[in-house]
Amino acid sequence: MISIIVAVANNNVIGKDNTLIWHLPADMKFFKEKTTGHCIITGRKNYESIPEKFRPLPNRTNIVITRQKDYSAPGAIVVDSIEKALLTAKNTDDTEIFIIGGAEIYKQSLHLVDRVYLTKIHHTFEGDAFFPELLNFEWKLTSNTKGIVDEKNKFEHDFLTFEKIA
Ligand SMILES: NC(=O)c1ccc[n+]([C@@H]2O[C@H](COP(=O)([O-])OP(=O)(O)OC[C@H]3O[C@@H](n4cnc5c(N)ncnc54)[C@H](OP(=O)(O)O)[C@@H]3O)[C@@H](O)[C@H]2O)c1
Repeated sequence: MISIIVAVANNNVIGKDNTLIWHLPADMKFFKEKTTGHCIITGRKNYESIPEKFRPLPNRTNIVITRQKDYSAPGAIVVDSIEKALLTAKNTDDTEIFIIGGAEIYKQSLHLVDRVYLTKIHHTFEGDAFFPELLNFEWKLTSNTKGIVDEKNKFEHDFLTFEKIA
């Protein structure tokens, strides 16, 4: 099983200036619960957007994709293509491999994945990184859970799961 995990605003924005725009701890918790114990595949820019003290993300096999020949990411595995990232992950005994972004990597890997965990943020943000549209003849919504809005999670959000239609 290969899955994408992503949080997307109303206008398909996922980030700006190589950072996340919104603060939604409930989504960070969801991300941690889903990905812990698994391989995570990330583009170099998304990896560098994680504060240094939090990377590599603990209790996960971190696989970073870059075209740079001498790129170093201590504690992570560095590869030079999406195909090699997937091969590396498949060579572990992982049951679900997670592609965690960013925009370039999502765009290039959407056709390779079986499932998308998509946290929909019901708000419009200005940004420069986008998630592709999921076409409804290719993707079936299989789960939809309303997120709880509270003091710490101010934006309305839903946790959606899509499975690829065979
Ligand atoms: N909302 C969310 O859930 C979410 C999740 C993740 C990220 N984001 C956001 O997404 C943004 C980052 O996305 P991004 O598109 O700028 O960058 P990215 O996809 O994280 O990384 C792009 C980099 O990956 C490497 N790369 C891409 N395709 C490759 C290929 N086919 N073969 C080898 N290397 C390849 C290149 O690295 P080199 O330049 O080193 O060669 C490229 O510059 C940030 O704003 C971040 O906050 C949002």
